[in-house]
Amino acid sequence: MERQWWQDKVCYQIWPKSFKDSNGDGVGDIPGIIDRLDYLKELGADILWLSPVYKSPLADEGYDIADYRGIDPRFGTMEDMERLLAETKRRGMYVVMDLVVNHCSDEHPWFQKALADPEGPYGKYFYFRKGKNGAPPTNWRGYFGGSVWSPVPGREDLYYLHLFCKKQPDLDWENPAVRREVVEMVNWWLDKGVAGFRVDAIVNIGKPERFEDFAPDRPDGLADCRKMLADPVSRQRLHAYLGQLRDEAFAPHNAFTVGEVFDTDPAELALFIGQGGFFSSMFDFAAACWGGSPKGWYDAKKPGPDNYRDCCFDSALRAAGVGFLSNIIENHDEPRGASRYLPEEAANDPRAQKALAAVQMLLPGLPFLYQGQEIGMTNTVFPSIDAVDDVNTHGEYAAALAAGLAPGEALARVARWSRDNARTPVQWSAEHAAGFTAGTPWLPVNPNYARVNAAAQQGVEGSVLEFYKSLIRLRKNDKYKEVLVWGGFEPVHQEQAGLAAFVRAGGGRRLLIASNLSGEAQQVELPGAAKEVLLCSDGAPGLAGDILTLAPWQAAVVELA
Ligand code: GLC
Repeated sequence: MERQWWQDKVCYQIWPKSFKDSNGDGVGDIPGIIDRLDYLKELGADILWLSPVYKSPLADEGYDIADYRGIDPRFGTMEDMERLLAETKRRGMYVVMDLVVNHCSDEHPWFQKALADPEGPYGKYFYFRKGKNGAPPTNWRGYFGGSVWSPVPGREDLYYLHLFCKKQPDLDWENPAVRREVVEMVNWWLDKGVAGFRVDAIVNIGKPERFEDFAPDRPDGLADCRKMLADPVSRQRLHAYLGQLRDEAFAPHNAFTVGEVFDTDPAELALFIGQGGFFSSMFDFAAACWGGSPKGWYDAKKPGPDNYRDCCFDSALRAAGVGFLSNIIENHDEPRGASRYLPEEAANDPRAQKALAAVQMLLPGLPFLYQGQEIGMTNTVFPSIDAVDDVNTHGEYAAALAAGLAPGEALARVARWSRDNARTPVQWSAEHAAGFTAGTPWLPVNPNYARVNAAAQQGVEGSVLEFYKSLIRLRKNDKYKEVLVWGGFEPVHQEQAGLAAFVRAGGGRRLLIASNLSGEAQQVELPGAAKEVLLCSDGAPGLAGDILTLAPWQAAVVELA
């Protein structure tokens, strides 16, 4: 496999609304990001993925774009964006934008023109369809609940398609004019100096030839819209459109791209992230999808550390020799990783958070941190459903109630998985509003901010933040880069409960990464003689003969002879 410029980098996702507010309006912004670049540089982040900052009504927090070439005033100006590009470049860092092109906002001029004249040229940018016997054209349920069809105001029996919320009309990629608009816009940003894109919800752009009902799969009589993704025509189209984006925009700029691809058919992996694939990388969502329920995400099962380990190991083995997966424990759509994968009593334990970090950061592939992960931020508390902002969580709460759950139980269930857990402001300090804003934060800060914050950890030995820095330094160290970035991967002792252990081998070195994901001490039989302990999350591990003893929640990296 030919080596690429981005493979030895560390990525960091910024969710701008909650990262850092510079002007006291309670909403994070681009100047706030610029203000924290030195912090990110010191952490070791190279590639910054910015969730959308484009002009948007924020119905889905910016994933509903009204102007692809404009910055929303709440986040700043185009001059701020250009300054961010210059300031990152000066520090040897890169900016990756979010490419949200399955849909736009209903406030985008394209959709406004389409509504005014559904039969006109802009009508062909979207999916307008006649209803069926007074009902919507199909019985598909959208990602956020309810029908994917909404009536066109003032037009009898005409509907438009939106797989997400009704303010996010789907763009019709079969129309070459739509594809041309997107290609030109992508090139415009790349020419401006962004290094690439995180590609949002992209598998949905391939739609079937005909829109037809599926067998209902819940008492609401609707069927999951994702069923259309398996349609062979949808798939063929998806591949063709992605090929065009790659050939006409990504490849000529040598851009870094990471796809939000949920339905990972192993047979397609090479097509997506192999040499010359559609994307540089794609996220590994195996652990995030573990325990999913057909009833809805409110009903999902909580994974434990062993489930996390098994999912990651399976994915790593599948991708071996094919390409680089992007590894996450959380993002803006998921609850906090520590709360999700660690047992409840350990979620707030810095030792356990560091043990989880060691696994994620040293797996093969590309590590992505999500803002606040590096200081051990955990899920927040929601006193009531009114305290939730997220459109998806409200939809799911309604689904839980419709399934017969009592309101208290429904709230408890959605609170566990809600995206708002990851969207509370970054906890910079123990000061007012966790140092996020001088004003009132748009979403309340997590009540644990006095204990969990960056200022309390910066430079403090043993802190979660400093441990992330040492993991990143190790991955980038010239001595170990070859093995940790490009080396092979072999799981060891996978049958041992509460232990995540693997060997990375390459460049003449073999490293054992062993993480005790349990509250009991563990003995690990070494798969070779120990040469040197390169890193340990807390203190030093026990080494006697060929046995490594890890204290509860202790992680170590050992070079083997
Ligand atoms: C992706 C985004 C999510 C958004 C959705 C619709 O899944 O990550 O935040 O709601 O796409 O754009």
